Formats: sequence, C-alpha cells, structure tokens
Amino acid sequence: MSKTKKIMIKEINGKFQYPIIIGGKIILQINSFIESHIKNKKVFVIYDNYFDLKKNNNFLYFLNQSISIIANEVKLISIKSRDKNKNLKTLSFLINKILKYNVERNSVIITFGGGVIGDIGGFVSSILLRGLNYIQIPTTLLAQVDSSVGGKTGINTPQGKNLVGTFYQPKCVIIDTKILKTLPKRELYAGFAEVIKYSLIMDKNFYNYLVINYNKILNLKEPYIDYIIHKSCQIKSKIVSEDEKEDGIRAILNLGHTFAHAFESELGYKSDLIHGEAVAIGICMAYRLSRKLGICKNSEVEKVENLILKYKLPTKINQIKTISLKRKNIFKKLFSDKKVKEGKLTFILSSGIGKAIIKNDINENTILSFLEEEINE
Ligand SMILES: NC(=O)c1ccc[n+]([C@@H]2O[C@H](COP(=O)([O-])OP(=O)(O)OC[C@H]3O[C@@H](n4cnc5c(N)ncnc54)[C@H](O)[C@@H]3O)[C@@H](O)[C@H]2O)c1
Repeated sequence: MSKTKKIMIKEINGKFQYPIIIGGKIILQINSFIESHIKNKKVFVIYDNYFDLKKNNNFLYFLNQSISIIANEVKLISIKSRDKNKNLKTLSFLINKILKYNVERNSVIITFGGGVIGDIGGFVSSILLRGLNYIQIPTTLLAQVDSSVGGKTGINTPQGKNLVGTFYQPKCVIIDTKILKTLPKRELYAGFAEVIKYSLIMDKNFYNYLVINYNKILNLKEPYIDYIIHKSCQIKSKIVSEDEKEDGIRAILNLGHTFAHAFESELGYKSDLIHGEAVAIGICMAYRLSRKLGICKNSEVEKVENLILKYKLPTKINQIKTISLKRKNIFKKLFSDKKVKEGKLTFILSSGIGKAIIKNDINENTILSFLEEEINE
C-alpha cells in the first residue's frame, strides 16, 4: 500500500474546506476517512455500471461492505458513463430513484465512477432537498486529477456542454490510484490531457517532469503516477480556493476547453472523440492560435504538440478519421461557451509553457481563418 497523501482545499474567505485523500488501495480504509459524514445516515452510492457488485474482490464490493457497517442504510444506483448519458434523462432517472427511496435531509450521496458519474451525481446532490452532502470517489484518471475537485457539477444539453449545472463542493474526495489498473488505455491517455494542461498553465517544472518521466507515468509506475495526480490536485485546489465561481483566475483551467466543448457538442457527444482527446486537440489549437496572433513562439508550440503525442493523444481534429465537421458549425458552437461575455468569445491562450493568458478581444475573422487552417471539409 503506498503512502496516503492529503491536500486540504480551503476557500480563501472560509466558505468551504475539504480534504482530498490520495493513495493506493485506500478504499480498504474508506471508513477512516468518511465515517463522520456517513455514520448512521442513509447513503446513496451512484456508481458507474462498469463496476459489478456481484464480483467479489473489487473496489465497489469493498466500498459497499465497508460503508454498510457504519451507515444506517446503503442504496446502490448504477448508471451508464460516457458524455452522451450525462443528460436530463439520466438526471431525471436519478431524481426519481432517490426520491422513491425516501431520501432524507441528512442523507449522503457517494459518487463512484468517472467524470460523468461525478458531474451528474454532484448535480443531483446539489438540487435534491436543496442540497445533500456528497463525497466523490473518482475512478478514472481524468476524474481523479480534474472533475472530482472544485465543485463544478452539471449535465450536457444539445445546445452545449455543461450548460446546466451548479457550483457545489463535495465534503471529501477519495482518490485510490490502484483503481486505475483496470482503466482502458484510451481512457487513461485521455486523463493525461488534463494533467498536461496544469503544467502548461502554470508550472514549467511540472512540464519538465512530464517530459522526462513519460514512460513510467504511462505505465502507471509508482511513485510517478501518484506524484502527477497529487501535483494536479494541488494546482487545481490552489486555483479553486482563490476563485470558486470562475470570476477570474479559474478561467485558465479551461485551456483547450473552448474548442474541445464545441467539437464534443457538435458531434453529439459521440465516443469517436472522448473528452480528454478533445481537450488535447483544444490545447494544441490554443497554442497554434497563440502563434497565429504572434503571442507564442513556434518552438513552444512544437514542444506542446510533442508532449501531447508522447502521451498518445491527438494534436489535430483532422487526425480523427471517423468524424466530419463543418467550420461554420464549430464557429457557431463556440458562442455557446459559458465564457462568452457580451457576445465576445474568451480564449485561454499562452505566451509559452507555464504561462496562460485570458483573451477576449480576438477578431471574429481571425477565428474563422484559424478554423480554416484547422478543419478539413
Ligand atoms: N466538473 C469538472 O470540473 C470537470 C472537469 C473535467 C471534465 N469533466 C467532465 O468529465 C467527463 C469525462 O470524464 P471521464 O473521462 O472520466 O469519462 P467517463 O465518466 O465517461 O468514464 C470513461 C470510461 O471509463 C470507464 N471506467 C471508469 N472507471 C473505470 C475503471 N476504474 N476501470 C475501467 N473502466 C472504468 C467508464 O465506464 C467509461 O466507459 C466529461 O463529462 C467532462 O465534461 C468535468
């Protein structure tokens, strides 16, 4: 069992604080971290249907066994992952199911799965009985380094990604790094897009670490994988504690996401392009757009593309051969982004590795000509 690490997120005005606990096989000690939240309460576990309770010796089985000892009652609800299911239909299913089980004001929700389960489970926690306590147990790399931390919850709609949701912080985040062993390679690589993002927005040393150790990280070797998860959570915690509602600095966490969300939404959240892959392409596009605007040197853009390639991710939308896109539709989709203010698009750009810039005065013709360079029709 690897050593357990703890990060405390403390909002600067004291609005919230909670721990992120990181370690290998820590699910086996889950009660020592969450007992005070669930003791004698009704607990709802919303879990990814990839996990199968009937098979002993798995993480869900251990979770259920452990919490059943101290909770008053445990109800397990499985849902399908994938962005195409992070929608109103699944939300409505969850609401009905939990209300039918006579949820109480002090009931607790535990989300056990990837970012889709965490986002929708967090959202349902925030609206049921005007807000229930919830705990995140992320099971994908992407969810461990990003979506489980920071309290953004929500669902997708045909109009755009995450347009319906809340800011609602969990009581605790439990990250078991051993749970990643069963993650399909494609999903693992997708998670690295968000890890790379943290290095690019504010930490050149972290970027160097990712370059030097990529082989060990890709193969989930300890202590490298634990280190990058810990580092990513640290960076995200720092930003979120300063700016929970994205009034300022938090926007830089969206590096690559403006383009990524437009692609995902335009494709109807098809699994030809999963979220982390879209983010990887979006990050490279943000650097190429920075180069086009004369903000960033070509050598920096090439370093970013090379790092993305090392982590087995795409750098250009044209590399995804099973999809076809229309530039004008992507251009329109960019305007459904939550960062649009007074009709103006906001992009997170960069002047070099470790340096993010928030830019909202780019001429629309420049964006259109950039999309011509990026998207083959
Ligand atoms: N709230 C936020 O701040 C935030 C940040 C980043 C991303 N997100 C959201 O996160 C979502 C993407 O999350 P994701 O990439 O985790 O997708 P996901 O939840 O769809 O999971 C991806 C796949 O991995 C499988 N899986 C999960 N854990 C597994 C395990 N341990 N072993 C084997 N298979 C496993 C799932 O069944 C699924 O097929 C998107 O909706 C994105 O918008 C939210």
